[in-house]
Parts: sequence; structure tokens; C-alpha cells
Amino acid sequence: MHLPFPNGFLWGAAGSAHQTEGNNVASDMWALENRPGGFLPERSGDACDGYHRWREDLDIVRDLGLNAYRFGIEWARVEPVEGQVSLAELAHYRRLIEGCLDRGLTPVVTLHHFSSPLWFQRRGGWTDAGAVERFRRYVRAVLPILNGVTWVCTINEPNMLAMMANMVKREKREENVAGAMPPPDQAVAEALMTAHHAAREELGAAAGIRSGWTVANQNFEAADGAEAERDAWAWTREDQFLDAAAGDDFIGVQAYTRVCIGREGALDVPDGARRTLTGWEFYPAALGNAVRHTAARIPGVPILVTENGIATSDDAERVEYTTGALAGLHEAMAGGIDVRGYLHWSLLDNYEWGTYHATFGLVAVDRRTFARTVKPSARWLGDVARAGALSG
Ligand code: BGC
Repeated sequence: MHLPFPNGFLWGAAGSAHQTEGNNVASDMWALENRPGGFLPERSGDACDGYHRWREDLDIVRDLGLNAYRFGIEWARVEPVEGQVSLAELAHYRRLIEGCLDRGLTPVVTLHHFSSPLWFQRRGGWTDAGAVERFRRYVRAVLPILNGVTWVCTINEPNMLAMMANMVKREKREENVAGAMPPPDQAVAEALMTAHHAAREELGAAAGIRSGWTVANQNFEAADGAEAERDAWAWTREDQFLDAAAGDDFIGVQAYTRVCIGREGALDVPDGARRTLTGWEFYPAALGNAVRHTAARIPGVPILVTENGIATSDDAERVEYTTGALAGLHEAMAGGIDVRGYLHWSLLDNYEWGTYHATFGLVAVDRRTFARTVKPSARWLGDVARAGALSG
């Protein structure tokens, strides 16, 4: 097998601010994690101490032979108190951007990745009348430090965010929140779309920025003739968010697994199916399928794979999964789909929203010393990037 990828293809790894930085104390997620009696088993705490160790992390990315790095700017740090923008925090993120550029890495910057400032949530979150303007103001504050950045993701996985909003609502009503995610809160979904478009308007003021958002692609498949149920399910949870990206500079595809939909909704992963540490089905074909689905939904919008990976403690399994995913991606591209890059989730074994158990990282992180250990899968991906081709 020798599957070449185009020249100039971005090969990278990804993380988010809350999951890697540590001590994101002014955020709503921090409040949720630290609430007595909350439903999350583990708190983010120091995370990977990425806030202080980003230079080491960028060196690792460069030394592996990758050429891109996706990271987040944390709104709760930039604006910890409403209306008070921290120039020191903006300078921190500017150093991170320059750290990428100095190392020859293309930065892919996410402005919002699940966490918001706690004050924003207390003011009513995304459905409050002033929410979109608050987000717009934050984007405007960040704009001056984005000089030299091409790829900007406004909001990460708005579809998951809207589902999480519904889950938190249910938890507040003391309903059982175990099991499958609830459907998105539609008012939150619509507010996020408006916020995304407002952010794109602001970012449009800067020359050279390409902006888009990233959608969780769940590969909904119909079981037992439940095509209509599958389509309805997919529209609320995914397709409306893809449709909202029509006309954007790019769309971020994030895919891990598939979900089968029967007449009554999502089906459990069948007994005996191979699973990952998150309980998801091991399904490398997810990426190629997600890319095809996205391209069919919003033809002409360039695709950047902003996340794909596997939670496993067996690093050889990570290589196996990623080989399958990249082969599927190559096939989709050979069919004419415009894909600009592949960013593996994640660079580090970071905080997986409630647990450190589900390790997605190319690089291990010691939970007490924060020492980084590069795994063989990272070297393997670096070799693929250097060769610009998947071989084997
Ligand atoms: C998110 C990441 C998360 C990953 C694995 C995506 O939903 O953007 O923050 O860690 O998938 O669950």
C-alpha cells in the first residue's frame, strides 16, 4: 500500500485549552467539575499543565515531523470578569501563536471549545438576549493577536455543546443523566449558529483568516429499515450544524465512530463488537464516511479534519485505527473531495471531560510530574507526515 497525500497537506495534532492547560478556574466547566455531588468522576485540576509547558509541547510536534498544531484560546482566561479583558492572557496566547510560527508549525486556533466563562453562564448562557454580542466582543478582543494565523475554528462541536446544555438542564432537574446524550437544546443550537456567523463577520475583518466551525460527525446508520428515524435523528444532532456552515471558508470534520439508529432511537453497540476506552465501537471507517457525508451536505466547502483518534491504552491499536482512518480519508479524497489536512486527536493524554482514563494521546503525560513521553504511534504519524504518504 502506498497512498500519497497532496503537497501542502496539513499533518498535525490537536488539543483544547480546558483539556490541557489546567486550572481554568473562571470557567463554567471548572464550576461543574468542582461542585459537590456533581456527576463527573474526575476534575480537570492541573490538566497537563499545558499553560506552562506549551513550548515543550510545540517542540514535540515539530520534532515528530508534523507541520500543524491545533489549540484553543480560553475565553474564561481572556475575559475572566465580564468586560475586563486580560492583556496578559492575550499576550500569552500571542506567544503560543508565535511559538508555532517560529517552529514552522501552522497554528489552527479554536476560539471556543465547550467551556465558557462562568459569568457568561450565570448571565443565562447562549440563550440570553446578550449572548451573541458577548461572544462577538470576545472575538473582537482576540482578533489583534491572530496576525499570521490562517485557520480559525469559531466554536468546537456546537452540536455536542447544545446536547450538553440539555444534559446539564436535565441534571439540574435531577433527572437521570446516564445513558445516551439527549437531543440538542434547539434554542442553544440556534444561538450558536448566530454566534458563529457573528464571529465569522468579525474575523472577516482580518486579511488571510479562514474561519469555520467544527462539527462532531457521528455517522448515523439506519438499522432495521429506520431510514426516516435516522434522518430525523441526524438532522437535529448534526446536519443542521453542517448546513449552517454553507459558504464558510472551511468545515472542520471530527469523527471517531458510528451510531446505529433503530425505530426507537440510538442502539447500543452490539455485544461482542470491538470497543474503545470510551465505550464507542472501534470503527476506523468513520472518518472517510464523515468526510463524504459532510461534502455531500455542503458541497464546495473545503474540509479540514480537525479531530480523529481513539481512546486506547494499547498504542499499537492507535496505529491500527489511524491507518484505517487515513486509508478511508485517502479514498474519499481520491473521489474528488477537497480535504486540506488531518489533525489527530489528541497530542496529549489530556482531560477527557470527566476522566483521565480515556487516553487519546500520541504523547503520555505523567499525572504527578507532567512529564511527557512520546508514544510509538506519535513517531509513526510523524513518519507518515514526513513521507506525505501512508505506506505499509
Ligand atoms: C471533542 C474533544 C474530545 C474528543 C473525544 C470531541 O468531542 O472536541 O474535546 O476530547 O471529541 O471525546
